[in-house]
Amino acid sequence: MARAAPERSASLHADPGAPRHVAIIMDGNGRWASERGLPRLAGHRAGADNLQRVLRTLDSSGVGFVTLYAFSTENWNRPTAEVNGLLELMRSVIGDCVEELHQRKVRIRHLGELDNIPASLADATREAVERTARNTGLNLCVAFDYGGRSEVVRAVRRIVASGVSEDEVTEQLIRDNLYLPDVPDPDLIIRTAGEQRLSNFLIWQAAYSEYYQTPAYWPDFDDVEVERALNEFKRRRRRFGALPEE
Ligand code: IPE
Ligand code: IPE
Ligand code: MG
Repeated sequence: MARAAPERSASLHADPGAPRHVAIIMDGNGRWASERGLPRLAGHRAGADNLQRVLRTLDSSGVGFVTLYAFSTENWNRPTAEVNGLLELMRSVIGDCVEELHQRKVRIRHLGELDNIPASLADATREAVERTARNTGLNLCVAFDYGGRSEVVRAVRRIVASGVSEDEVTEQLIRDNLYLPDVPDPDLIIRTAGEQRLSNFLIWQAAYSEYYQTPAYWPDFDDVEVERALNEFKRRRRRFGALPEE
């Protein structure tokens, strides 16, 4: 005899509506620049100029958390001039954007390491995080010198150092030791510029994220592109390993 189906949470198969958390792999700045005969850094600058417009659109669409992949632990392997350019750009984006974001009640968060970047950039990042810490609007999480694998290694180290016993190690404990434990998993991960890989982004948190890629390079990822991604998300049916309702 068939067992009675366990009660399912009402939201499990519901139309997902607007994603609560959108994470973006902002890729294609270099290709955007080379197609225009410009140096790669011009592409990174154009990418930085695109940030506010995308954030405003996501904010007004009801998204509560946005995570931006700005610099990976593997991006240190790029030529020194490009790495330095990206560090400087990050510094100037903080200088140019924090005031406006603060006015719009955006709470800025950081995930990744601050120890390997220049002290002035690390300080500016900490100041932006502290300054906006009490804001109640959009949560903007910036992944800078971030790698999913190092995040997991860091969590394991913290757990080992805390001296817990083997049977106290749970998924929840690992989550509690990630960079931003209170941030929900991304519902939607967008990657621009056509690649179909995570490149070490949120590897723990992405377990059940919906994945969306577009050929548009990051500097060209405009309001129409955001709309397209959000509409595609609405069409997805998330099942989390269970069966769809009849
Ligand atoms: C993304 O653009 C920005 C960073 C990785 C920092 P890329 O610089 O990777 O651009 P492509 O992939 O070379 O076009
Ligand atoms: C991923 O893009 C990292 C960021 C967007 C910051 P990459 O351009 O570094 O990724 P790969 O090298 O194509 O995998
Ligand atoms: Mg790239």
